[in-house]
Amino acid sequence: MNGKELFYRIEEKIPLKLALPTDRVGYIGKKDPGDLEILRILLLMDYYPEEGLDYTGYDLIVLHHPPRVPPLIPAYVIHSNWDLLYGGACDALADCMKISCTDVLDPATGLGRIGEIESGPILLSRFVRYVMRALKIGSVRTVNYSEDRLIFTVGLVSGFGLNQDLIRMAQHRGIDLYLSGDLTHPGAILAKQSDLVLIDASHHATELPGLFRLGEVLSGLGVEVTVKDTGVPFGVYSDHYRPVSYLSTTLDREKSSVSWETGYIS
Ligand SMILES: [Fe+2]
Repeated sequence: MNGKELFYRIEEKIPLKLALPTDRVGYIGKKDPGDLEILRILLLMDYYPEEGLDYTGYDLIVLHHPPRVPPLIPAYVIHSNWDLLYGGACDALADCMKISCTDVLDPATGLGRIGEIESGPILLSRFVRYVMRALKIGSVRTVNYSEDRLIFTVGLVSGFGLNQDLIRMAQHRGIDLYLSGDLTHPGAILAKQSDLVLIDASHHATELPGLFRLGEVLSGLGVEVTVKDTGVPFGVYSDHYRPVSYLSTTLDREKSSVSWETGYIS
C-alpha cells in the first residue's frame, strides 16, 4: 500500500490531533510518504538501535514511544493519540483488567479511565493477584495496601500515570485504587496522604495490552503487522532484597558512623 494512503487510513482511526500538545506523533522519514510502498510493518514499543533488531523485510516501523534517534528505516509514531483514543491503550488495559469504564480519569485531557470491576467488588489481595496474572508479571509495587480492603472503583492509565499530577487528580476522583506505572518515591509519599491504593504494575506491562490491540487495528488496514515486545530498557538484580527501612540505628556521641552493609553501629 502507498505510504500516503496508509497514513491517511491510520489517521482516520487514530487522529494526530488527539495527541497531547508536546507529543511528537506521525511519520518520521526522509522520503515523501507518497513514494513509500508499505506491505509489512514492524510494531514496537521502543526503538533501541543498539539492540541490532533486524529490520530487513519490513517497510515501516510503527513505534509507540517517540524515538530518541532517527530510525534506520521509515517510522511512524502512535503515542498519546493512542492513549487518549476511545478503544485505545487505556481501554485495552481496562479490558484486560475486566473493568467496565464509566468515565475518564482526567476530564481536561481525556486521559485515563475510571470504571468498576465487572465481577463486582473484590478484595485488594485478589485484585493484585489478578493484575499480576493478567499482565504476566511477577510483582507489583503498592501504596496503602491492606489485603482485606474491598475495591469497588478503579482508575487507570497505561504507562506513565503514577506521576504526582495524575496521583493528585486520582485522589479527587472518588476511586478506591489507581493502577498504572512509573511510581516515584515522592509520588508514593503523596499517595500516603490519602487512602487511595496505588498499584504500580510497570510502564511496560501496562502498555502491552494496548500495543497488541494497536497491532490488530493496523493489520485491519490491509498490511501485514508483526508485533515485537522490546521489553524493559533496564535489568533487574535481586538477592534477598531487604528494604533499608527495616534497619534502625541510633547514633550516640561516641559511636558516630554506620556501616552500610549491616546497619550496625561500628
Ligand atoms: Fe509509554
